[in-house]
Amino acid sequence: MSLVITGATGHLGRLVIDQLLAAGVPAGRIVATGRDVTKLGLVAEQTGVTIRTADFTGPASLVEAFRGAERLLLVSTTTVGQRYDGHRRAIDAAAAAGASLIVYTSILNADSARMRLATEHRDTEQYLRTGHLPYVILRNGWYLENYTDQLPVIRQHSAILGAAGNGRVSAASRADYAAAATAVLTGEGHSGATYELGGEAFTLTELAATFAEVLGTPVAYRDLPTDAYAATLAGAGLPADFADVLADADAGLARGELFTDRHDLRDLIGRSPTTRLQAIRVATAASAVPAT
Ligand SMILES: NC(=O)c1ccc[n+]([C@@H]2O[C@H](COP(=O)([O-])OP(=O)(O)OC[C@H]3O[C@@H](n4cnc5c(N)ncnc54)[C@H](OP(=O)(O)O)[C@@H]3O)[C@@H](O)[C@H]2O)c1
Repeated sequence: MSLVITGATGHLGRLVIDQLLAAGVPAGRIVATGRDVTKLGLVAEQTGVTIRTADFTGPASLVEAFRGAERLLLVSTTTVGQRYDGHRRAIDAAAAAGASLIVYTSILNADSARMRLATEHRDTEQYLRTGHLPYVILRNGWYLENYTDQLPVIRQHSAILGAAGNGRVSAASRADYAAAATAVLTGEGHSGATYELGGEAFTLTELAATFAEVLGTPVAYRDLPTDAYAATLAGAGLPADFADVLADADAGLARGELFTDRHDLRDLIGRSPTTRLQAIRVATAASAVPAT
């Protein structure tokens, strides 16, 4: 019987594959799935994990993709507005394939958050709760990478833009959330649990101060009205719908929807989650231009 990972062609799923292997799970027990599995050719060659195509818009192929699954990690998909239908198909396929546990990556405070991003997570959680398949819900908080990926723009403008006010975000690295998923997939006693996962909490003003400290140059946090922030993101080239979703998430952050004071992440991974200072230092070092 195997551990089947969806979204393994993406950042989080790929980290889970690496961490399962590092934890000593035999490659023969791991099935890595995604839509575009050409991205996984090298990992299959190097590690021997099984690769299968799984597109949540094609239910027939999904049962085959999940064949032999003992436990399945359902990584939430990316197309906001079409996610719930796909998640439902994946859950049905996992049950049809005979999985005994499904682990779903949701969003922090999914039951109470009003931000648009939470809606399909809440619906997916509800579908899991009313089904017959034992489940674990990992309510992942914001990724630190959402901020460190902005490093070039932050450097250029000496500013972070947002609509988060003085809200606090409990962020951690993707690798931390992958470690939590790995712990649940390889551990016992988690069935039925809902974990609120987040790391150190900070405001975006505090985040800007940490960027300033690491870069050695002033960085300000500029708070905008939600609409103005969405317009700025769209003006920078993001599709308008996605810009709206991100600005709406910042409004949720301002209301405290991406904050948790629970220590579920630390308890699951057995160490403190990555801090913003550590993440910014690593991202800054990685982006350093070698002297010529
Ligand atoms: N907590 C946060 O801050 C945060 C931020 C961004 C996203 N998220 C959520 O967390 C998830 C994982 O994050 P990530 O960084 O790993 O995202 P990512 O790198 O964009 O990976 C998304 C994965 O979803 C797969 N996928 C998309 N649509 C699919 C479909 N219809 N059927 C099957 N697979 C599909 C993709 O497969 P292919 O590559 O093969 O197409 C990819 O493997 C995201 O999908 C999103 O729901 C959370």
